[in-house]
Amino acid sequence: MNQSSMANCVCSLLIMALYNMLLPSVIVTSMTHSSNSSTINEERQALLQSGWWNDYLNISDHCAWDAITCNEAGSVIIILGWKIPPSEELRRLQNLNMTAFPNLEVLYLYGMSLRGSIPKEISTLTKLTDLYLSNNHLQGSIPVELGSLTQLVLLSLYNNSLTGSIPSTLSQLVNLRYLLLSFNQLEGAIPAELGNLTQLIGFYLSNNSITGSIPSSLGQLQNLTILLLDSNRIQGPIPEEFGNLKSLHILYLSNNLLTSTIPPTLGRLENLTHLFLDSNQIEGHIPLELANLSNLDTLHLSQNKISGLIPPKLFQMGKMHSLYLSSNLLSGSIPIENLKCPSIATVDLSYNLLNGSIPSQIGCVNNLDLSHNFLKGEVPSLLGKNSILDRLDLSYNNLTGKLYKELATLTYINLSYNSFDFSQDLDLKAHIPDYCSFPRDSLISHNPPNFTSCDPSPQTNSPTSKAKPITVIVLPIIGIILGVILLALYFARCFSKTKFEGGLAKNGDLFSVWNYDGKVAFEDIIEATEDFHIKYCIGTGAYGSVYRVQLPTGKIVAVKKLHQMEAQNPSFDKSFRNEVKMLTEICHRNIVKLHGFCLHNRCMFLVYQYMESGSLFYALNNDVEAQELNWSKRVNIIKGMANALSYMHHDCTPPIIHRDVTSSNVLLNSHLQAFVSDFGTARLLDPDSSNQTLVVGTYGYIAPELAYTLTVSEKCDVFSFGVVALETLMGRHPGEFISSLSNSSTQNILLKDLLDSRLPLPVFPKDAQDIMLVVALALACLCFQPKSRPSMQQVAQELCASKLPPPLPFYKISIAQLMTPDILLSFI
Ligand SMILES: *[C@@H]1O[C@H](CO)[C@@H](O)[C@H](O)[C@H]1NC(C)=O
Ligand SMILES: *[C@@H]1O[C@H](CO)[C@@H](O)[C@H](O)[C@H]1NC(C)=O
Ligand SMILES: *[C@@H]1O[C@H](CO)[C@@H](O)[C@H](O)[C@H]1NC(C)=O
Ligand SMILES: *[C@@H]1O[C@H](CO)[C@@H](O)[C@H](O)[C@H]1NC(C)=O
Ligand SMILES: *[C@@H]1O[C@H](CO)[C@@H](O)[C@H](O)[C@H]1NC(C)=O
Ligand SMILES: *[C@@H]1O[C@H](CO)[C@@H](O)[C@H](O)[C@H]1NC(C)=O
Ligand SMILES: *[C@@H]1O[C@H](CO)[C@@H](O)[C@H](O)[C@H]1NC(C)=O
Ligand SMILES: *[C@@H]1O[C@H](CO)[C@@H](O)[C@H](O)[C@H]1NC(C)=O
Ligand SMILES: *[C@@H]1O[C@H](CO)[C@@H](O)[C@H](O)[C@H]1NC(C)=O
Ligand SMILES: *[C@@H]1O[C@H](CO)[C@@H](O)[C@H](O)[C@H]1NC(C)=O
Ligand SMILES: *[C@@H]1O[C@H](CO)[C@@H](O)[C@H](O)[C@H]1NC(C)=O
Ligand SMILES: *[C@@H]1O[C@H](CO)[C@@H](O)[C@H](O)[C@H]1NC(C)=O
Repeated sequence: MNQSSMANCVCSLLIMALYNMLLPSVIVTSMTHSSNSSTINEERQALLQSGWWNDYLNISDHCAWDAITCNEAGSVIIILGWKIPPSEELRRLQNLNMTAFPNLEVLYLYGMSLRGSIPKEISTLTKLTDLYLSNNHLQGSIPVELGSLTQLVLLSLYNNSLTGSIPSTLSQLVNLRYLLLSFNQLEGAIPAELGNLTQLIGFYLSNNSITGSIPSSLGQLQNLTILLLDSNRIQGPIPEEFGNLKSLHILYLSNNLLTSTIPPTLGRLENLTHLFLDSNQIEGHIPLELANLSNLDTLHLSQNKISGLIPPKLFQMGKMHSLYLSSNLLSGSIPIENLKCPSIATVDLSYNLLNGSIPSQIGCVNNLDLSHNFLKGEVPSLLGKNSILDRLDLSYNNLTGKLYKELATLTYINLSYNSFDFSQDLDLKAHIPDYCSFPRDSLISHNPPNFTSCDPSPQTNSPTSKAKPITVIVLPIIGIILGVILLALYFARCFSKTKFEGGLAKNGDLFSVWNYDGKVAFEDIIEATEDFHIKYCIGTGAYGSVYRVQLPTGKIVAVKKLHQMEAQNPSFDKSFRNEVKMLTEICHRNIVKLHGFCLHNRCMFLVYQYMESGSLFYALNNDVEAQELNWSKRVNIIKGMANALSYMHHDCTPPIIHRDVTSSNVLLNSHLQAFVSDFGTARLLDPDSSNQTLVVGTYGYIAPELAYTLTVSEKCDVFSFGVVALETLMGRHPGEFISSLSNSSTQNILLKDLLDSRLPLPVFPKDAQDIMLVVALALACLCFQPKSRPSMQQVAQELCASKLPPPLPFYKISIAQLMTPDILLSFI
């Protein structure tokens, strides 16, 4: 690097560090080293000898190589390697003569497939602050001499093949903030001396072969934020001193041989969000104090020997999202009472000794597994007001009595192996929508169907499915409209099946195919919304307003009503039909589900699956919601969108172009998963018709060519996707950023400065890599020339494969680097 860009680089080092917030105060690059020419020459010889930078041989000054940064005196201070050397003999750590770099501060050799052991000569790099040797194949043990590198702030040996034990000399690294040793074959116990590393913020030791017990001295690490000791063979108790780890956010002790009880002191960890103690041999009760963890998001205690009652307060914790207590010895009743609804998204209490009956408030949970217990009595008749229940497993209990038809509205239900008396109550069976159910294989798994295509013809299951004990699995998706004639036929079927009487005549123009139970109808919706009273309105789109509607069964749906005036306008009528037609043909886990529709001379409306968390736009513009949308959730939203659009463009015949991809048209469910919605402007790419059209879409998201060529192609959606993807990571509309992308000052912006500042920079390398990948792909999607943009299929595949982008350090990535074809080519 030349001198001016070097200043830039050092500056960026000072601001932000490797995937983390670690370096700021520590890397102080001295500009006053007096290196003489023999040092400089030896450094150059060592770099050449390594054979790792042969691409740069035509540049005589090694300080000008991309991978190398020198101080003012010309001595090397940063070495970055990330390309796999071309030949096997070059892939050895020993190729770099460690003794030749007296001023080296950062040695970053990531994913280079390097073999060999870490040489003890590494101790000569006394100024080293960052040693990053992750994702290689290094063997042998960690040299005790590493303990003399007392300037180290980050030590990452993550994902190698290192053996032997952790040297206690590492406790001399008094400046160490991150110690990453996961995914190796390290043995022996955790040295008690590591409790002296009081600056430590992250300690990663997952997936090794560590034995012994956890030293109580680790409880001294007041600044520790992440502690990952999962998937080892650690024995003994969880030290009660862990209650002193006041900064802890994430504690993973899963998959070990831990015994004894959960220390009540853990209830003091006020900032804890993830507590994973599953797959151990922990005994005793769940301490009541855990309910003090007001920031807890996930509690995982499954597969232990925990007994006693479940503290009711676990169900009343403000931020709890998932509670996994399965495969323990928990007894007593299910303490779901006086819940503030909605409560927790996922509750798994399966494989315990719970008795008593099913509480009436189960509707406050989204996904509930009570299977393999000793529950008795009847299933409550109503899921309750505000029910969010969507998946329910009650199998392997001793439940009796009646079943109610609202259970049929759930996405998944398993009632098998109970004592229900089906001979007396055919109510539920009568309402199983067998004529529109999915192949059983796709339902038995807990995953919703992804790319299963909807069969446009009604199908009837064979009568043999009535065998007892009966497994009732219901998926209320309807995908069948083949015009009015078929509809009429269809209704004849539907009503004769369910013995429904009167509704059709009473409600006039009811053209709904949604009535798999034959009852929910136009009037229900009018009644539930008090004739579309404004107080039920949750949003207004381009073509109509959206209402939240609670049906008499307790189920909540979203109803999109076209304004009356518009409903009478033939072009809107057309777009309405367009939307219906398209949606009924679409069946994808990231596309909002159409339950049905009503055409009536008073109004027209569409009935959709209700999305608890509203639109992506809303979530990004609300500070509380935005913080809940952490990096991995945001990346997942972007992946979901890409899958949905790829499906529309490449798996539908003819392809469907959405034409109005915006953050308002991406809806989020209670798990913050993305669903593309609003097909009001979508149109089939019919090869027989002209693809020219009036400009539609939303300002700020429209591809530039639409403005002057009026030609619609899939690449318009690709452009809009790029805008929404950037918006998701930036937390705001990227308008100005996109319009100034051709300026070098914009290209010099660092990625970390572009990201939503309401979130801390990514802590997990996986998040950092995903973010780089998304931004690089989004920038490609924003290419001015439609031809230069990737297809949605390419985008979805790249995101899905999660092939890692070049592992440049996160702090160093600029927009320009993510725009260069070289980098893109390496993974597109
Ligand atoms: C340069 O430094 C080396 C050791 O760093 C020393 O051996 C050598 O004498 C020095 N040469 C000059 C010209 O100062
Ligand atoms: C060095 O070679 C590369 C191609 O191998 C070329 O792109 C680059 O411009 C060359 N640099 C100089 C300074 O000659
Ligand atoms: C490594 O570098 C040192 C210092 O420049 C030098 O004395 C030594 O000979 C080198 N070792 C090898 C194997 O090249
Ligand atoms: C470990 O590194 C290899 C490359 O050497 C990579 O393919 C793999 O995904 C990495 N595993 C983890 C857990 O990071
Ligand atoms: C480091 O920790 C050990 C054991 O926890 C202790 O005996 C020792 O005094 C500590 N050393 C220093 C320098 O604090
Ligand atoms: C924790 O971190 C803060 C800020 O980085 C530092 O001032 C403090 O000394 C650290 N705490 C301990 C116990 O080292
Ligand atoms: C880590 O260990 C767990 C448990 O043995 C295993 O399921 C998981 O696949 C391992 N992860 C990797 C990346 O090896
Ligand atoms: C918990 O987190 C909050 C907000 O990030 C912070 O202000 C507070 O200091 C943290 N508490 C402890 C004990 O670290
Ligand atoms: C923590 O929980 C215990 C038992 O539930 C309770 O007595 C105590 O007051 C709680 N402490 C705080 C700080 O909330
Ligand atoms: C549930 O089991 C406990 C013992 O585990 C017993 O004391 C209690 O009476 C049982 N309750 C019911 C309703 O069966
Ligand atoms: C289930 O309940 C019925 C009626 O309460 C009882 O007769 C039967 O023994 C129970 N079965 C089991 C396995 O507990
Ligand atoms: C859908 O999911 C199933 C099971 O997870 C998987 O095998 C299948 O490949 C997926 N289909 C597509 C098109 O991704």
